[in-house]
Amino acid sequence: MAATIRTENVWKTYGANTPRQVDAVRDLSMEIEKGTITALGGPSGSGKSTALSLIGLLTRPSRGKIFLGDQEVSGLSEVFRTKLRRTEIGFIFQAQYLIPQLTATENVALPLLCTDISRSEAEKLAREKLTSLGMEQRLDFRVVELSGGELQRVGIARALMNAPRILIADEPSASIDEKLTKELLATLRTMVEDEGLTVVVASHDPVVLQWADVLLMMHDGSVKGSS
Ligand SMILES: Nc1ncnc2c1ncn2[C@@H]1O[C@H](COP(=O)(O)OP(=O)(O)OP(=O)(O)O)[C@@H](O)[C@H]1O
Ligand SMILES: [Mg+2]
Repeated sequence: MAATIRTENVWKTYGANTPRQVDAVRDLSMEIEKGTITALGGPSGSGKSTALSLIGLLTRPSRGKIFLGDQEVSGLSEVFRTKLRRTEIGFIFQAQYLIPQLTATENVALPLLCTDISRSEAEKLAREKLTSLGMEQRLDFRVVELSGGELQRVGIARALMNAPRILIADEPSASIDEKLTKELLATLRTMVEDEGLTVVVASHDPVVLQWADVLLMMHDGSVKGSS
């Protein structure tokens, strides 16, 4: 079977032909299997977040190809890429981009409001997802009334609302302590085992790097070692 995610000699160049040209990703070729957890490690500026943006279809490669399953996605139209991003991919960022005036439930329900699911059904599903993450006491709290760890769980619940096949997480433990980090990682591990989710995570945190099934160390825009 084809790997869930494959990059083939992918480059991402910012500011091409200017004095500020940066090859953020250089000739990156990697394969990520379905139902596995892959961590990208490596120094600041080594291209981890850029690699995540590329495989999450948030940006296009300057050169090279990216495959999700058998489908070559780097050359697809923006309409198709957006559709794939909405249906197949979930994102967890360090800054959760939650809407402060809305409650936890309303934030989590948001991705479903642009589908044909009704608002009340979307909120019911959001409550169930938050409850499964231990947030049943905070469903109607606004974002400004939540702790860092609680925000993290709202962000995770929202990322999972479209039942993605691929979860992309950039520095997911950066604003939470080790205990919450371990809880978060255990939750994600369960989803990988139960639902065949494929996780790709970029991190500096040794706890996250050790938890992954595969560790790819990036340096200067490409993978320079794996374990
Ligand atoms: N939008 C952009 N425009 C120009 N240069 C960029 C852009 N995004 C990233 N870069 C550059 O590309 C390089 C790789 O950045 P990237 O954010 O991928 O690194 P990283 O490994 O995630 O670093 P960190 O560990 O600090 O998060 C950096 O030198 C950065 O300055
Ligand atoms: Mg980064």
